[in-house]
Amino acid sequence: DAEKADYKARIAASLKAHNAVLVAHYYTDPLLQELAEETGGCVSDSLEMARFGRDHPASTLLVAGVRFMGETAKILSPEKRVLMPTLEATCSLDIGCPIDEFSAYCDQHPDRTVVVYANTSAAVKARADWVVTSSCALPIVEHLMDKGEKILWAPDQHLGNYIQRETGADMLLWEGSCIVHEEFKAKALEDLRKVYPDAAVLVHPESPQAVVELADVVGSTSQLIKATQELPNPTFIVATDRGIFYKMQQAAPDRLLIDAPTAGNGATCRSCAHCPWMAMNTLPRVLQSLEHGTDEIIVDPQLIPRAVKPLDRMLDFTR
Ligand code: 13P
Ligand code: SF4
Repeated sequence: DAEKADYKARIAASLKAHNAVLVAHYYTDPLLQELAEETGGCVSDSLEMARFGRDHPASTLLVAGVRFMGETAKILSPEKRVLMPTLEATCSLDIGCPIDEFSAYCDQHPDRTVVVYANTSAAVKARADWVVTSSCALPIVEHLMDKGEKILWAPDQHLGNYIQRETGADMLLWEGSCIVHEEFKAKALEDLRKVYPDAAVLVHPESPQAVVELADVVGSTSQLIKATQELPNPTFIVATDRGIFYKMQQAAPDRLLIDAPTAGNGATCRSCAHCPWMAMNTLPRVLQSLEHGTDEIIVDPQLIPRAVKPLDRMLDFTR
């Protein structure tokens, strides 16, 4: 409507005026994803957001997503100003892996290579040997296994468990989880599949094992979008945040996309296939942050040289 169009126009002008670029995750409001595309920014998964922000010449990065994405951008480009629509947008995996406890856990297992998911704080990354995202965790763990390394994995237990099952690597798992993906229900998914026998089931590996086991494709957000272009199925049942439907529908315009079932009713479901922190990224907040420089990401400068090492390893590995 007119108000949204007005916000979009003002944000586009403000991005130009501040030499800023918008970097958005697939789970954010489709209006923001659209705006990022229209203004020369990017919409992608957490791995490519990191790479795009690092390589883009703009002096300000406006990161629409959750806090760890803004922190990653800052660690990779300390000379750039990194703004977010709100610094309140966090992630249950980040919350569930506080640095003191994590560091003590690592100290107890000095013989293990520390591999952390990107969904962590700068301090946790600084304690790690490798950072991975869901799109590169599997080949990186295979690579470490080939070198004979034993792994300490944090924080997502479901992704860790999936990687462990796929590779057979020796992995010690931290017990974090994503409040969005852990809501998907296997029994209800099986029932839904009977209603749509031609459907392919696409699952993000932060989902519980019983859900992953029903998948035709398990993958990161970008890998699931790619699957909708490559598979012939008329219908896709999708177990990840429903923000992804904007890009999936672009990739596969003639297909039916259905959310995988969550706890079943609003009363028992905390997140219902949409991340409450991703949802905090609104047009008014983007504009406010850009115009007033509020919600700037600051990372302790002492952490940056240590946190950048495992991130560079990931970006080099996936180049
Ligand atoms: P991707 O790396 O697949 O974009 O996932 C990030 C995330 O937060 C998933 O919940
Ligand atoms: Fe974190 Fe889950 Fe939200 Fe992704 S969807 S940002 S893993 S809480």
